[in-house]
Amino acid sequence: MIDIKTDPRFRGLEPFESRVWLSSPTMHGDEQRWVDDAIQTNWVSTVGRNIDEIESQISKYVGCKYAVGLSAGTAALHLATKLAGEKLYGQARPNQGTLQGHRVFCSDVTFDASINPVAYEDGEAIFIDTERDTWNMDPEALKKAFELYPDTKLIVVAHLYGTPGKMEAIKQIANEHGALIVEDAAESLGAKFRLNGQWVETGTLGDYNCISFNGNKIITGSAGGMFLTDSKEDADKVRKWSTQSREAAPWYQHEEIGYNYRISNIVAGVIRGQIPYLDEHIAQKKAIYERYKEGLKDLPLTMNPYDKENSEPNFWLSCCLLDEDAMAPMVRGEQDYLYHSASGKSSPQEILEAIAAFKAEGRPIWKPMHMQPIYRTNPFVTVEGNGRGRTNAYIKGSGIDVGADIFRRGLCLPSDNKMTPEQQDRIIEIIHRCFL
Ligand SMILES: Cc1ncc(COP(=O)(O)O)c(C=O)c1O
Repeated sequence: MIDIKTDPRFRGLEPFESRVWLSSPTMHGDEQRWVDDAIQTNWVSTVGRNIDEIESQISKYVGCKYAVGLSAGTAALHLATKLAGEKLYGQARPNQGTLQGHRVFCSDVTFDASINPVAYEDGEAIFIDTERDTWNMDPEALKKAFELYPDTKLIVVAHLYGTPGKMEAIKQIANEHGALIVEDAAESLGAKFRLNGQWVETGTLGDYNCISFNGNKIITGSAGGMFLTDSKEDADKVRKWSTQSREAAPWYQHEEIGYNYRISNIVAGVIRGQIPYLDEHIAQKKAIYERYKEGLKDLPLTMNPYDKENSEPNFWLSCCLLDEDAMAPMVRGEQDYLYHSASGKSSPQEILEAIAAFKAEGRPIWKPMHMQPIYRTNPFVTVEGNGRGRTNAYIKGSGIDVGADIFRRGLCLPSDNKMTPEQQDRIIEIIHRCFL
């Protein structure tokens, strides 16, 4: 453990008085007004003006016809995945998922909420390796996956840390194979992508699209999510499923499985107060990214990359990737880790420890799904083909695994939009000291 009082590298640097967060909620005051409005008008339920307003405002902002407010991004992803499963394979029996017996190609370096709905629906997730240009699903690995599993008809793709992935290529590959796309834009609300020469928002790039208002996201309702679509039929179905699938009868009548996934009008009030500040939050996050980029440019590391010509991220989290030859020894077990300090070098765990010792919050890169104990037996596909069992006791060399490499050498930096430039400069200084 780093002790900043005794470690000479950190001499003269003071810890922060109040914690600097990775990404915490930023309230502006309007949220209170709309929550109060819900309470004063007694619309304290899953119907009300706040819900109508946020659905209308977000669909306008993102540029889709319909937005359905749900209790979480996870709920949106579940219903999006189920909708895709039902479209592809028909309605399932009440005790079965719509994807039973079917494979789904999934982003690998993402939060598990992106892809757990595949398991909720009894499908098998096949993880697709990551490319180095945006840290998202690699279209070349996706092509390989279709060679290995040509019957697959569904792709779940996420935009990591607010950076759009290579969606033009992914959509083209999906079209060639008649596959549908569930787009997880939970981290990327407000990020833009140039698709066939036209700038569009993430959240409009799939056949079924989802966003999140979780407490750490670019704007928040404390919780909440949305399903986004141009299809009235799909929007109506998601609204119906999310309110327990009631049929048109005077009593509770059910012909399909239902869920209690609708958003609350109170939570929607918080979101209503946040939407006017979405662009301001993005600008603050971008300034943080740029300040890190400038402040860390003399160190042997790079920032999380994006395609400047074809995308404008929302810069939700700033991250960095240490150069291979600047990596001090570090090993990670399933729940703990060990590292050595080495002059002129450092490691993600050392930097995270140092930042934490000064009362700031960073985080390891999301551990790839194909490395997670729960999904370790699921297939994994890289640009080389099958990504499992790539080494040979009798032959030198190891297989390509971009996600594992980014997890090993990368880390998420404190990216809170309330962080002051002075606080950020101190974090930059702490990181420099780690390389002494
Ligand atoms: C990529 C991604 N997908 C899905 C989710 C789930 O959203 P929620 O927490 O709103 O359920 C999150 C974050 O929480 C996420 O980061």
